[in-house]
Amino acid sequence: MEIVIQPDPELAGDLIAQEIVRLYRRKPTAVLGLATGSTPLPVYEALRRRHEAGEVSFAEGQAFILDEYVGLPEGHPESYRTVIRTELVDHVDFPRHALHAPEVEAEDLERAVLAYEWAIRDTGGVDLQLLGIGENGHIGFNEPGASLASRTRVGYLTPSTVAANARFFDDDESQVPRRCVTQGLATIMTAHHLVIIATGEKKARAVAQMIEGPVSQRWPASVLQHHTHVTVLLDEGAASQLELADYYREAYGSVPSWRII
Ligand code: PGA
Repeated sequence: MEIVIQPDPELAGDLIAQEIVRLYRRKPTAVLGLATGSTPLPVYEALRRRHEAGEVSFAEGQAFILDEYVGLPEGHPESYRTVIRTELVDHVDFPRHALHAPEVEAEDLERAVLAYEWAIRDTGGVDLQLLGIGENGHIGFNEPGASLASRTRVGYLTPSTVAANARFFDDDESQVPRRCVTQGLATIMTAHHLVIIATGEKKARAVAQMIEGPVSQRWPASVLQHHTHVTVLLDEGAASQLELADYYREAYGSVPSWRII
């Protein structure tokens, strides 16, 4: 894993945006994996800005969302499809059907999640998967206890995730859907480059477990220790419980300037 500690979330987000710009210049058909939540928002903001400045085109690209609630009607402002459209896709030049999401309204949900897993495989793999991390160490909706070998499936939110996400639902936990579809941990691990962003002290414990703890279902993000190309973008708060923070800073400082992350 490469650990990149930045002074603030905007700089961390812009570094990821620069990496995505570089990816699309090198491979215009690149496949992105997109995450929701508050933390990735600076990435989308920077991408909108860089697209508007003419630095990047997504005209041949595709994107897959990482997870989605089950039970919200199509077009609900907090459905992850809507969030990704509003934050990114509607503002840039992705083709009309470039955004893929699991069909959470399907009568046969099990079949729909399987189809989503296969759709991801059919692309030959996600080139760059953007991830956030929950305070409980989840990635996607792979909550503690998720099998490290899991594939795309129907899941169930922990009380801590329901509490954390209530802020998007008028602070009313009863409005937060409990069921979800999520790419599995093994599905996420098939992406070529995993880029995870975490900001704020509330994430410090999960970040320390992900990077320096044992690989365990208790902290699902720790599975990333088995991937060959993971970049972790942190602000000072999220990095505050890392035992080797100074070493990570020094190591990233030695990276040649032509490399972004
Ligand atoms: P957050 O969510 O960015 O809103 O904290 C991240 C996550 O739960 O994966």
